Amino acid sequence: MSAVSSGNPSEHQHTGGGETPPRAWLRVLIAAPGTGKSTWCRDRAELGAVLSTDRARAEIGTGEEDQAASAAAFDLVQARAADHLAAGRDVTIDATGAHPRDRARWRALAAEHGAAPVAVRLRCSLLETLRRNRSRPRRVPALVVVRMWWTVRTLTRRRLRREGFAEVYDVAT
Ligand SMILES: Nc1ncnc2c1ncn2[C@@H]1O[C@H](COP(=O)(O)OP(=O)(O)O)[C@@H](O)[C@H]1O
Ligand SMILES: [Mg+2]
Repeated sequence: MSAVSSGNPSEHQHTGGGETPPRAWLRVLIAAPGTGKSTWCRDRAELGAVLSTDRARAEIGTGEEDQAASAAAFDLVQARAADHLAAGRDVTIDATGAHPRDRARWRALAAEHGAAPVAVRLRCSLLETLRRNRSRPRRVPALVVVRMWWTVRTLTRRRLRREGFAEVYDVAT
């Protein structure tokens, strides 16, 4: 079974046969800010509905960086993801996925809808991640990037499988 291959997400396939409807995929991106998550998701139709918590913050709050709007933004993304999964559509969560509680939330949502939770780690060196972060209009404080990059870097495949992800993929960006 392949949800997203390490380099080529177009190899994405559903499983299922006979009269059983195929399971939807709920992909959870895992990467520090600046890695290139949103860029990677762009124009990849095979990812299904790409739902960004940054964009939801901008919709609900004062902008993508509005941390005060985080809880409401996550709720909005969850509600939208639930609608897509209920309709049998794949969903990709464009967020850092660095905190265990966030990953648990998305897995619980997948379970509610019989979808397969998949972790997709996007990999980029720390120096390049910091460079990319500096190059864009909305910069995240460098210390936050470094901390999250390290958290993601030390997150093992085994740990993610144990948490309950059906598949874990690594993609270089
Ligand atoms: N593969 C890449 N090569 C070079 N620059 C990239 C690449 N992917 C993204 N970027 C640039 O890095 C910056 C951060 O990318 P973005 O997709 O917004 O990251 P994230 O969503 O992970 O925070 C943007 O300016 C983007 O244009
Ligand atoms: Mg982004």
